[in-house]
Amino acid sequence: MRIVVVGPGRAGGSLAVAARTAGHELVGLYGRRTSSRLLADHLGVRLRLIGEPLPEADLVVVAVRDDALPEVAATLSPLADRVRGAVHLSGVTSVRVLDPLREAGLETGSFHPLQTLPGWEAGSRALPGAYVGITASEDWATELESLARSIGCRPIRVADERKALYHAAGGVAANYVAAALCVAEYMFREAGVDPAAARPMVEQAVANAFDLGFREALTGPISRGDLGTVRRQIEAVDRHAPAASEAFRVLTRLTAELAGRVEVEEILREAGRPPGGSTSPGPVPEGGGSS
Ligand SMILES: NC(=O)c1ccc[n+]([C@@H]2O[C@H](COP(=O)([O-])OP(=O)(O)OC[C@H]3O[C@@H](n4cnc5c(N)ncnc54)[C@H](OP(=O)(O)O)[C@@H]3O)[C@@H](O)[C@H]2O)c1
Repeated sequence: MRIVVVGPGRAGGSLAVAARTAGHELVGLYGRRTSSRLLADHLGVRLRLIGEPLPEADLVVVAVRDDALPEVAATLSPLADRVRGAVHLSGVTSVRVLDPLREAGLETGSFHPLQTLPGWEAGSRALPGAYVGITASEDWATELESLARSIGCRPIRVADERKALYHAAGGVAANYVAAALCVAEYMFREAGVDPAAARPMVEQAVANAFDLGFREALTGPISRGDLGTVRRQIEAVDRHAPAASEAFRVLTRLTAELAGRVEVEEILREAGRPPGGSTSPGPVPEGGGSS
């Protein structure tokens, strides 16, 4: 495909590099300033300003941040008469945000990498193997699926009206797991243990969850009904890491519900409310996050 990328940031840059590596032709890179020179140099293309005419292309990837999509779609629509189709990369935003381009005769859709892309170098390496949520009309979706496969991604279809839910699920899977790890980090540090020691166990637990089933993979005192251990854990957290008490109760209750251990509710009732003071572990302690 001949591809134009508009918005040479983390996601746009990652996709541009991955598509080029897969043999696609990058025929244009557009930004609103010239700060992405390194990426342009790496790709061997000239960085143009958004608002300059678009070249003949099969696909324009509108990779600006979600809030800027309406404005940029409107800017591009009179400039895209030689472009066949467009996608944006937002997991939450409706395809309809590209209506100015659809009205200008382009196919429109969205192409959302279900992956975290921290920058174009690491992001382009993380794309192969990742899933990509595709929302588009049937024919255009089929072409976008081929594009995804060509760069080593695995396409999945997402209905436009369920995008926000799909995106929220991705947020739970990625960010809420990270949030739970922040709680664990604080507790490990208060216990005098390097949080990095948890890494092999966490990686195995995540692998087990996907291999065995999310509920089936649960282990630990809650799932086996070891109520005395659960009671001692709550006491220890309240005593030595009180800023995690509320989060520990919330996660204990959730895990008990998922494991079908209604008896844990009794332990939580006996333990009472978390001790006063902070209700979250707060900022990462000196020494930064775990590796
Ligand atoms: N990064 C990820 O992990 C990831 C994963 C999946 C999907 N996405 C999606 O990818 C899209 C881009 O996200 P990102 O993380 O790549 O963001 P980003 O790194 O901030 O890059 C956004 C790009 O858009 C440009 N831009 C921002 N506002 C603009 C405006 N008003 N007019 C013109 N250009 C503008 C930025 O230019 P400046 O440098 O001048 O600000 C930058 O080149 C979003 O829809 C996001 O949901 C991101």
